[in-house]
Amino acid sequence: MSSQDRLTMPVGEAMFTQRSIRRLRPDSLPLEDIRVFLEAAVKAPNGGNAQPGRFLVVTERKQLKALGALYHEAWWAKRKEIQGWHTRADIPPTEKTYLSASRLADEIGDAPLIVLPCAKRGTPGNSVFPWVQNMMLAARALGIGSVFTTLHPQVMERVMALFALPQDVEVFGCVPMGYPRGKFGPTARKSIGELTYFNRWGQPSPWA
Ligand SMILES: Cc1cc2nc3c(=O)[nH]c(=O)nc-3n(C[C@H](O)[C@H](O)[C@H](O)COP(=O)(O)O)c2cc1C
Repeated sequence: MSSQDRLTMPVGEAMFTQRSIRRLRPDSLPLEDIRVFLEAAVKAPNGGNAQPGRFLVVTERKQLKALGALYHEAWWAKRKEIQGWHTRADIPPTEKTYLSASRLADEIGDAPLIVLPCAKRGTPGNSVFPWVQNMMLAARALGIGSVFTTLHPQVMERVMALFALPQDVEVFGCVPMGYPRGKFGPTARKSIGELTYFNRWGQPSPWA
C-alpha cells in the first residue's frame, strides 16, 4: 500500500490532536510505518526544491542509549544556562512543560526511535523544518507520538562522533518518536485574534 493510502486520518484530526508526546513506549516501530512518515516528510516544501534535508534515523538500542545520555546532559546544560536550574527540585511546580521535558531527558534513551534532521552546515532551517513538521503529523496519523527538541552545543561534537557525521553536516533537532504512554489530545494556543493582523501590522483581524 502506498504511503498516501496509509494516511487516512483527516488532516484536521491529525493537526488538532498532535501535541508533544514525551512519554513513549519502548516498543519498536514497524519499518513500514517509518517509511510512511519519512515519505510524507519529504513531500513538504523546501527552497527551490533543492531538498537539502537529510534524516538520520536511529533505532539501535546502543546508539539510542548513548544519544539519550548526551541529550540528558544537553537538556540540563540549557536549563542551567537559561533558568539557573540544576536539578528537578529547582523547577517550580507550575512549570509543567519543563517538568515533563525533564522526564523526557531521563527517558529519551528508551525511545524506540530518534530522528536527527540534518543538512549541510549553513542550510537555512526553513528548508528543513517543514519536513520535520510533515513527519510529525504523518506519525500522528499512524498513532506514533513525537516531540521536537534541540540539542545544546556542549554535546554536539560527541553527537557528531557517535553517528560519524561529517563536519560539514549540521544537526537541526532531535525528535524522539514512539507509541504514546499517554493520549494524543488538544494543544493550548493563543487565539488567532491575538496572533493575526490584517493588511497592516497592528490592524485587528476579523477574529480579534
Ligand atoms: C524549537 C523547539 C524546541 C523545543 N525544545 C524542546 C525540548 O528541548 N524539550 C522538550 O521536551 N520539548 C521541546 N519542544 C516542544 C515544545 O515544548 C512544545 O511544542 C510546546 O510546549 C507546545 O506544546 P505542544 O506541542 O504539546 O502543544 C520544542 C519545540 C520547538 C518548536
